[in-house]
Amino acid sequence: MKILACNFKNKLTYSEYQAYSQKLEEFSCSFVKTIFIPPFPFLPLFKSKSYELGSQDISSFNETTITGEVTAEALKSLGVAYTLVGHSERRKYKNEINIDFINKINNAWESKIKVIYCIGESLEDHENGNTYMVLEKQISEVLNNVATDNIIIAYEPIWAIGTKVWPDPKEIEETTQFIKDITEEKYDTSLKVLYGGSVDDNNIKELKKIKNVDGFLIGNASLSLDKVKAILLEMMGE
Ligand code: PGA
Repeated sequence: MKILACNFKNKLTYSEYQAYSQKLEEFSCSFVKTIFIPPFPFLPLFKSKSYELGSQDISSFNETTITGEVTAEALKSLGVAYTLVGHSERRKYKNEINIDFINKINNAWESKIKVIYCIGESLEDHENGNTYMVLEKQISEVLNNVATDNIIIAYEPIWAIGTKVWPDPKEIEETTQFIKDITEEKYDTSLKVLYGGSVDDNNIKELKKIKNVDGFLIGNASLSLDKVKAILLEMMGE
């Protein structure tokens, strides 16, 4: 089953999330696994049987005496089934590095929370032809140290996030295949790979044709439920 992961980031207020989640009461989509990923305080608004709940982060600690942290166990108790790890915004603004991702993935694994591990190259690396080298490093330095059975990779070129610019579909297809091949080779399992970066209701027609992509991680487009529904409709059609 294809996946659509909707990362709200931090764009809305409490009342806006409340209105959004109320509109979702009618929502059902049995053909695409849809995951809504609100900021921590709004997670309980999005608890539902007709879609999955995801968190934007998870603590790298599992002690219960660290003020301000949200542990895997706490997330589990809220019904969180997926968590993002390694998003480029966490790498950039929170200086998160491999050891953080390893700890987060291990904690998620212990609480049976699936991880969407985000990787992607900078514009500079892309232009210098270093994409595969960067991705392989981001994969192996983290996945060599964790159990890989609950991991989905999200390939998100940093230069495509929130920019309304995205790679050529042929390039996404080749890069996705590269990721699948190396995970198969190194971990004996071909991981699911999502594409993320400026996906919206206009380009989904083109992007959904990429055969080896298992779904999409959307940011800005997720703020409009109409756009989410339009994307899902396209994903369901041939
Ligand atoms: P975008 O964000 O769809 O707005 O480019 C994607 C993401 O940050 O995951």
